[in-house]
Order: sequence, then structure tokens, then C-alpha cells
Amino acid sequence: MQMTNRPVISSTGLFTPDDSISNEELVASFNAYVDRFNLDNAAAIESGTIEPLQPSSVQFIEKASGIKARHVMAKAPVLDPAIMAPRWEERNNDELSIMAEIGVLAARQALERAGRKPEEVDAVLCAASNMQRAYPAMAIEIQQALGIDGFAFDMNVACSSATFGIQTAADYVRSGNARSVLVVSPEITSGHLNWRDRDSHFIFGDVATAVLVEDAAIAPKGHWDIIGTKLKTVFSNNIRNNFGFLNRANPEGEGTSDKLFVQEGRKVFKEVVPMVATMITEEAERLSVDPAGLRRMWLHQANAGMNRLIAQRVLGHEADADKSPTVLDTYGNTSSAGSIIAFHLYSDDLAAGDTGLICSFGAGYSAGTVFIRKAA
Ligand code: COA
Repeated sequence: MQMTNRPVISSTGLFTPDDSISNEELVASFNAYVDRFNLDNAAAIESGTIEPLQPSSVQFIEKASGIKARHVMAKAPVLDPAIMAPRWEERNNDELSIMAEIGVLAARQALERAGRKPEEVDAVLCAASNMQRAYPAMAIEIQQALGIDGFAFDMNVACSSATFGIQTAADYVRSGNARSVLVVSPEITSGHLNWRDRDSHFIFGDVATAVLVEDAAIAPKGHWDIIGTKLKTVFSNNIRNNFGFLNRANPEGEGTSDKLFVQEGRKVFKEVVPMVATMITEEAERLSVDPAGLRRMWLHQANAGMNRLIAQRVLGHEADADKSPTVLDTYGNTSSAGSIIAFHLYSDDLAAGDTGLICSFGAGYSAGTVFIRKAA
């Protein structure tokens, strides 16, 4: 007999934008911008007051990151060398906002897959890196659009938002404050990416995911038992975005570059890999899970090299695509949604009793692990 509420993952949902940008298209646009900048500033470059911009390269991007393409909500303006940012028609306050819209699409799929009606859900967490506005909370708009009674709020832990959301939802279920919680991660990362920055213009893509966390007593057959969750944060400036209403760029547009994503990529690589590998192995030990026996790891999709190293340290050998699937090639880095996309796309083949790990890491620094086991 079940004595306490036991949180499980009932289902997931995924929304993928139709538009996709290949590395070739991205680099052609970036290099057109570079040519134009260097031409417009030819005199200053000649006199040595301005450094010329350097072109980007498809080979570098693929080798450094494993990314071959990324989906975006607005392809044409991102690729237009005169704009290089997402643009769409501003919506009225009585229209569903774009971030809520894609969150709702992912959430609806998760509800359908669990056979769950919106009125049976108790709470919605919008867990994402970038909120479209300050308030009302995106989560409340999503809640309203889905027709859910109960409560909703936003939470932002950058790339770890979804795993932090899963633990928060699981804690609500354990405490009895909710039996069914939607964790929605609409990540319109194209808005915070500096498409003019050669070091990072290739990194991010847009997507939305949803995870339905519920009490085992009401969950559908074939759900995923949550064996344990662990969260960790350690302050670092190595991934930072200073955008905010107290931190705006000045009206001349100067100082915009740090109001978008900036990182010290090499430091991130060096510091985050050991932190996450240690966290996973310690948590596995606490939960009496043999890391070598993990059937699959759905890792945060930041960079192919990082994932390769983390998986290798945890498993004790190199992981193949079956053990540690990647979606980086077609989705790029989708911030908190990355590990959930991988889980959504590559979990149907696991059998009852198989153990896996959803893991995120990123700005903060922040990291989260969710060990799960497929139920019968
Ligand atoms: N095209 C061509 N060359 C480029 C380039 C581009 N778009 N961007 C950088 N380069 C060049 C640099 O100028 C540098 O040249 P140099 O050696 O002559 O100075 C060289 O490539 C290496 O640049 P560097 O930035 O040191 O590359 P890297 O090998 O560290 O790879 C990252 C960059 C971002 C892919 C890598 O650091 C990384 O994956 N970090 C992990 C962080 C991460 O993924 N964060 C996401 C948020 S969690």
C-alpha cells in the first residue's frame, strides 16, 4: 500500500518551430554582416582605431559545438544582415503572447500523452531562461489558456530551469500541495543571443517542452518513477546576461552586447564538466544507482564535447548515441529544454525497470539531476 505521495513523470510534450537555420545559412548571413561592417568602417580600420571583424566558419562551428542547425521562431530577420535579431508583429495584451503560445502547444501534447484533462492539473510552472515580460507571470497566462484551475508561477534558473522545475513539482506532489503539475519550458533563446557575436552566434535555438509531474496514484501506465532529484548552484560570471529594466542599453544603442548572452566558453567547459560529473556520481551513490548500469543519460544539450566528457566520466567509458543521445545537431543549445527534448525523443524504447538520468547544467552556475526508472 502506498503510504505517501510519490512523484513520477507521467509524460512530456515538445513543440518545434517549423523554421530551421543551417550552419551554411547562418555563416553566410554573419559573413555578409562582417563584410558590410568592415567596408563601412574601412577608414577607421585602416587608421587602426577599429579592429576589423573576422568571418565565421561552418567547420569551426561544427567541430567546436556539434551543432549543424537550429530551429527559430523568425528566420528571415535573424538572417537579415541589417537586423540579425528575431522580429514579429507585436501582439495586443488580449492576444496570447508568443512565449505562452509555444508553451501551450508543448503542454497540450504532454496532457494528451498522459490522457490528462486540463481541469485535473493543479499547477503550472513556467521554468525557462528568458521570460518575455516581467508580469503577469507567463505561467499564469499558460494556465489560463489551457483552462487549468489552481496556481502558476515563473521560475528562472537559466539552462537548469527544467530540472529545477521538476524537483519543485515533485516536492509539491510529495507534500500533498498538488497531485498534477505541468513544468513548461518555452525557450525563445533567439531573443537573447547576440547574432553578431562570432564566438557565440551559432549556439542557441528555439523550442518549447513540457513535463507532467504527478502523484504515482493517478499517473498513467508506463510512467517514470522519480528515484531522486538533486540541485546545485555555484555563483559564476562566466555565463551572464545583464538585460533588465534596471540595466538597459543606453538610447544610442551602446552597451547592448552585455545585455545579451555572453560567456567565457573555455572556462565554462573547464569548470562545469568536473562539477557536473562529480554531482552525478555522488547522487548516484546516494540513491544506490550504479552509474555504469544507467540505460540512458539525457544530458543538457550545450556542447557535444562537454556531453562526451561528462558521460565518459560518469560511465567510465565513452558513451555511444544510444547511451547519451544528442539533439544538438538539429536543435542547437535550447537552454533548459535540451535534456527534455532528448528525453522526449529518445525514451520510448526503454523497458520497465530501466534506469536513466535527466541532467542539466548552465549559467549560475546551476546543475540539476533527475534519476528516473521506467515503471511497468
Ligand atoms: N568561426 C571561426 N572561428 C572562430 C569562431 C567562429 N564562429 N569563433 C571563435 N573562433 C576562433 C577564435 O577566434 C579562436 O581563434 P584563435 O585560436 O586564433 O584565437 C579559436 O576559434 C578558438 O576559439 P575559442 O572561443 O577558444 O573556441 P573553443 O574551442 O573554446 O570553442 C565554445 C568555443 C563556446 C564552443 C566552447 O568553449 C564551449 O563549448 N564551451 C562550453 C560552453 C557552452 O557550451 N556554454 C553554453 C551555455 S551552457
